[in-house]
Amino acid sequence: MSADVTALLYLVSAVLFVLALRGLSSPVTSRQGNFFGMAGMTIAVLTTLALAAPSSATAWILIIAGIGIGGAIGATIARRIPMTAMPQLVAGFHSLVGLAAVMVAAAALYAPAAFGIGAPGAIHGASLVEMSIGVVIGAITFTGSIIAFLKLDGRMSGKPIMLPARHLINIAIAALIVILVIAFVTSESHGLFWTITLLSLLIGVLIIIPIGGADMPVVISMLNSYSGWAAAGIGFTLGNTALIITGALVGASGAILSYIMCKGMNRSFISVILGGFGGETAGPAGGDGEQKPVKLGSAEDAAFLMKNSGKVIIVPGYGMAVAQAQHALREMADVLKENGVEVKYAIHPVAGRMPGHMNVLLAEANVPYDEVFELEDINSEFAQSDVAFVIGANDVTNPAAEDDPSSPIYGMPVLQVWKAGTVMFVKRSLASGYAGIDNPLFYNDNTMMLLGDAKKMAEEIVKGM
Ligand code: TAP
Repeated sequence: MSADVTALLYLVSAVLFVLALRGLSSPVTSRQGNFFGMAGMTIAVLTTLALAAPSSATAWILIIAGIGIGGAIGATIARRIPMTAMPQLVAGFHSLVGLAAVMVAAAALYAPAAFGIGAPGAIHGASLVEMSIGVVIGAITFTGSIIAFLKLDGRMSGKPIMLPARHLINIAIAALIVILVIAFVTSESHGLFWTITLLSLLIGVLIIIPIGGADMPVVISMLNSYSGWAAAGIGFTLGNTALIITGALVGASGAILSYIMCKGMNRSFISVILGGFGGETAGPAGGDGEQKPVKLGSAEDAAFLMKNSGKVIIVPGYGMAVAQAQHALREMADVLKENGVEVKYAIHPVAGRMPGHMNVLLAEANVPYDEVFELEDINSEFAQSDVAFVIGANDVTNPAAEDDPSSPIYGMPVLQVWKAGTVMFVKRSLASGYAGIDNPLFYNDNTMMLLGDAKKMAEEIVKGM
């Protein structure tokens, strides 16, 4: 295939990736966006295969077997994974991108001729620099994503793990990596390459362990960004423009997402990276030891109150995803609307466990988009609503973010549900949410706790109405 045709096909796939990102920016166009992304990736893969078509049958068998086995594993995991486990799956996939970057850099070091970057012992200087950058970012992404996976999957505590003098340790390791990279570029020593890899793997762990539960949204998007830059690094090593463009697109969009997440939580990126927030012990609310009274309600009480309301604002959270309550919830909203009640949904930017989590679930249940509002557009309306119906959400409604400077979520904008006439909390117990902190709203006079599984409760309320 001529270089011009290759460049043109890679350009087409790059344009399709840009269109995919654009499509994914709204639930209305997201399916189309996904389609563009798949088309772009198919063109990129086929072009790459045609470009470097292997001459031996064994090579073809290896490539096809690799695509077949990898594709089958990916498809099986994607089909089986529940929506609630999506964030850890994404973290797991990011770790693989990081590992791939390390592998490609190692392959290029051991067989430079295959990559057209010189001969062993005489690899071009620029390629050694690219290789170093690729391996450092790749190794950090690999171990950082594994720690994120373990934290999100609950296999490791969400509490920050704070090593003494951790900033000093990190700075020292980072400086050592820079010195070793310079030595590696001048010597092409395999020993130095693997030392750089090991130190980068270590720093990946050290960067993520001190980040507490409340800041995990930023970590996810930050690792997303790193995985993009790692892929771009592989693109430089392989001399593949499509991979450079795709990696840069993922890297840049991940960086923008991190910015949006920081803004959503009113935190500076630097303070998140330095870590240590969001890790107070989880446990039942009312943590000062004494048992405070709460007002318990039944599905019938909730049905009666809401049916006789003028306006209800629904606040979904992670528990709605766990219970898969979105369909029952939409049915409940439909019945309310039939009874002349105005219904709106309020979405917090970090509700759930991944960016856009609630929007995806509500879209799946065919909730009309014009009933779904972002925090800044709806917060002023709670004061004029009769009921705030909080279903499986907790941290995103916690007033401690506004009035308790010692709280790990202090400063994060929250949905001011307490301003509504009545606040209903649908959850199974008085336990805290992801950030592990008490929610004082449970004990307010205008709060009604509807204890139970979110889906069952929504179904019973529909029956009750
Ligand atoms: P959370 O504060 O985690 O609260 C969810 C609540 O759902 C829990 O308190 C739980 O209480 C309840 N629940 C769980 N299963 C349920 C079920 N089957 N039926 C009914 N309720 C159920 O969720 P949120 O308000 O959505 O806030 C999100 C939190 O996750 C924030 O702290 C955020 O920083 C963090 N986070 C977000 C992201 C992104 S990007 N969105 C990523 C990582 C972390 P019970 O156990 O009593 O039922």
